[in-house]
Amino acid sequence: MSNSLNFDRHRRLRRTAVLRDMVRETKLEVNDFIYPIFVVAGENIKEEIPSMPNVFQYSLNRLDEELQEVSRLGIPAIMFFGIPAKKDALGSGAYASDGIVQEAIRQTKKNYPDLIVIADTCMCEYTDHGHCGIIHDGVVDNDESLGYLVKTAVSQAEAGADIIAPSNMMDGFVAAIRKGLDEAGFIDIPIMSYAVKYASAFYGPFRDAADSSPQFGDRKSYQMDPANRREALLEAESDVREGADFLIVKPGLPYLDVLREVRDRFNLPLVSYNVSGEYAMVKAAAQKGWIDEKKIVLEALTSMKRAGADMIITYHAKDAVNWLRGEE
Ligand code: PBG
Repeated sequence: MSNSLNFDRHRRLRRTAVLRDMVRETKLEVNDFIYPIFVVAGENIKEEIPSMPNVFQYSLNRLDEELQEVSRLGIPAIMFFGIPAKKDALGSGAYASDGIVQEAIRQTKKNYPDLIVIADTCMCEYTDHGHCGIIHDGVVDNDESLGYLVKTAVSQAEAGADIIAPSNMMDGFVAAIRKGLDEAGFIDIPIMSYAVKYASAFYGPFRDAADSSPQFGDRKSYQMDPANRREALLEAESDVREGADFLIVKPGLPYLDVLREVRDRFNLPLVSYNVSGEYAMVKAAAQKGWIDEKKIVLEALTSMKRAGADMIITYHAKDAVNWLRGEE
């Protein structure tokens, strides 16, 4: 039968587990992961985020519990998000030298100097209106916001951040922050730009976690329309030209096509952000017993790498590392 037909035998290399391991094209490893951590003003707080099971807000005096686990697992990098004691119109908590993220960075670099600390640079967790920039006449003023973002980035670098990750989607933020960091003497601090960030409903649980929902309107005048693909390449092109050192595409799983295109066009290290809503959906379905959480998570993360990611920012990072090591 087989000799008379002309077809290819792909199953030959799938015959045994060892053969499949040998020909596997994409592998997840611990160095792929960046773990996001929420730090909150106050004392003795370790509070679970309801829509994100097993993700917590930590006050500084409880933060080391989390850092210790991350560093024990060998996860190379964390990304901080801050919830300040007070919010105001100009987001002053974002760039205060004793702001919640600045203090968290200092504490981390003191106690875990080898951990790479990435600072998310945005205003939305710090403004009372919840927008990612400064409001002027009811709109987010692009150029006025840049100055505040530069102040924020410089204060994060002064606190010891290893990488600055601006997520605000103002035009020119990479150029402005690069210039500001250089002038402050931080020529060696890289920028991990949220170059391609969509106005996505998948950020819902994060906004609960960071208490950062816009109090009026939405983010569609600065974050991208989910329907657009070419615009993603324009955004990435600008950030490369302005001096970004890494590019982020966000969210993750629903935007793998965009990730692949950015991978094919640009040579910077590329990061996929597996966001809060993606995490919440997996957790909810797993809790109902409808999916196999471990298999689903490892498949999704592998797919992000296959689509071109060098690194993945994910709330699943600790579980993934345990699973990759064969622990439960
Ligand atoms: C700040 C920021 C957001 C996320 C990362 N940085 C929220 C937003 O843009 O509304 C979302 C992350 C997630 O959903 O996991 N601008």
